[in-house]
Amino acid sequence: MTDLLDKETDFSNMIDARLSRRSFLMGTAAVGAGAFLALNPVAKAIAANMDSKLLNFMQVPASTNDTVIVPKGYSISNLMSWGDPIFTNAPAFNANGKQDSTAQAMQFGDNTDGMSVFPLSKDHAILAVNNEYTNYEYLFDHQGKAMTADDVKKAQAALGVTVVELVRKDGKWIMDPKGKVNRRITANTEMHVTGPAAGHDLLKTKADPTGKKVLGTINNCSNGHTPWGTYLTCEENFNGFFGAEEEVALDDNYKRYGVEATQSKYQWHNFDERFDLAKNPNEPNRFGWIVEIDPKDPTSTPLKRTALGRFKHENAAFVINDDGHAVVYLGDDERGEHIYKFVSKHKYQAGNDSANRQLLEEGTLYVAKFNMHADKLEGDGEWIELTYGKNGLTKENGFNSQAEVMIFARKAATQVSATTMDRPEWIAVHPDNKHVFCTLTNNKNRGVKEGQDVDGPNPRAENHYGQIVRWMPTDGNHADNTFKWDLYLIAGNPTVHKGDLYAGSANINEDNMFNSPDGIGFDKAGRLWIQTDGNYSNEGDFAGQGNNQMLCGDPMTGEVRRFLTGPIGSEVTGLTFSEDQKTMFVGIQHPSGHFPAGGDNKPRSTIVAITKDDGGVVGS
Ligand code: FEO
Ligand code: CA
Ligand code: CA
Repeated sequence: MTDLLDKETDFSNMIDARLSRRSFLMGTAAVGAGAFLALNPVAKAIAANMDSKLLNFMQVPASTNDTVIVPKGYSISNLMSWGDPIFTNAPAFNANGKQDSTAQAMQFGDNTDGMSVFPLSKDHAILAVNNEYTNYEYLFDHQGKAMTADDVKKAQAALGVTVVELVRKDGKWIMDPKGKVNRRITANTEMHVTGPAAGHDLLKTKADPTGKKVLGTINNCSNGHTPWGTYLTCEENFNGFFGAEEEVALDDNYKRYGVEATQSKYQWHNFDERFDLAKNPNEPNRFGWIVEIDPKDPTSTPLKRTALGRFKHENAAFVINDDGHAVVYLGDDERGEHIYKFVSKHKYQAGNDSANRQLLEEGTLYVAKFNMHADKLEGDGEWIELTYGKNGLTKENGFNSQAEVMIFARKAATQVSATTMDRPEWIAVHPDNKHVFCTLTNNKNRGVKEGQDVDGPNPRAENHYGQIVRWMPTDGNHADNTFKWDLYLIAGNPTVHKGDLYAGSANINEDNMFNSPDGIGFDKAGRLWIQTDGNYSNEGDFAGQGNNQMLCGDPMTGEVRRFLTGPIGSEVTGLTFSEDQKTMFVGIQHPSGHFPAGGDNKPRSTIVAITKDDGGVVGS
């Protein structure tokens, strides 16, 4: 792919969304029908170039069916569903919702999300996969209406991370309940805190006066992995698991993360005082981190990496910079939050993994500021350092240490005037190691709430479709403090909207349209896989878009083609490949019909394995 990628360094030639600043600032109503195409010189080229050499499959139509559909010439099998036993002595799944916490702790967790394959040999691998949260309506026979202490334990055992071994037999990957590394990591697994916030007073609790020993990881959204073989799990909406039965005064530092002293939906605080803000006000400070896990050692202690900041982490896009520094791009998924970058202090040393394992312990966190070039949906940007004592991160402004800058990273980002974004979800680094893509899934507050003006890579008010921003670090150096950006695509609905930005960019048409891009990832050949988590009503603004889906984009031509449609109610999230790229694993989260078993069966979050019938590489 190198030859192809060299050409791509002419960044300005790639943009598919050049509208006048005036036209998009005016919003949907004011943009004239001709403005979009007239001001989009690349539009014609992209529209004509729908024969990507990278994308070699027939697009599937949008679907409202209660099943997973893939292109002709591909097959699907179910790898693992919520409740499947992952140990030989684990009880079989029972759909009656009466199984207890002990059973759940030995079964695959709920709501499959980000995942990574760690190859062991040609037909043997480890899969580490997040279980983001739980669906009480299916988890319990009482749907959460009559919770007991054990029900809370069961819910705590249904999320976190699942590690299992996979084996390929007769060309088909299956989960091996006999796998030596099989493990459940839950809301009660012991972990250690490392980095600048470790041991800080704000992390100390009654049960842990050291502030360095946390139980559990929660709301594990997406993921990342390192070249030294560890898995990164990202804690997202941790706030939802905290509550209080009595009134507790919570300051802005809680509010900024949505932590509220109310009756929480999950009801953990009613039975587990760790999640009761009245009793343990510091416990929420112990979540919202990136957690590093060694999937090959089931006895290893997961490490919370506080040098990467505390926010609602979506994923962790890892790259080794040309100069050897480990760089991790990080999105904070909330309306009006930010995009971050961590650069390790020390350098990666090939073959010295005991040293490499310290790389996420120490480094510098930055937050992105996007500047727009006049009249174009492109611009440059800078990374602003979030280091105590610099850029106004001082005592006068309420920061007393680097630990506080990390614990309240959102507040630090605001202090340095970082750009508020349309819900940054996943970030992916192209295999050329230079271009970085980030999904901005949607943002109903854009142009509505203070501080969220229509600007830069967030060009639409009340943005319910989402877009994908792309940046290239200066000189291809991820440690550089500057970059250039453009928009790879603007999702929209060209059948409902005509001639304005809500119709989408020119690479979106009525055959491939979708809303709310979320999971993204590159395969080795440089195909950009795009998963959606959006409105599947198939009505109004979303008419014709059907269920959530997965598409595949060619980063060179801009072409986007739909590869998969998910079942009713589901979000398509989580993607990884076997080492030979001949099997792609895709997560189907929170289906609400009867997937995967059909009939009258309860829906179950499920990982599907997709193969090409001719035995080739998926997508090729
Ligand atoms: Fe768990 Fe932002 O998705
Ligand atoms: Ca997501
Ligand atoms: Ca989402």
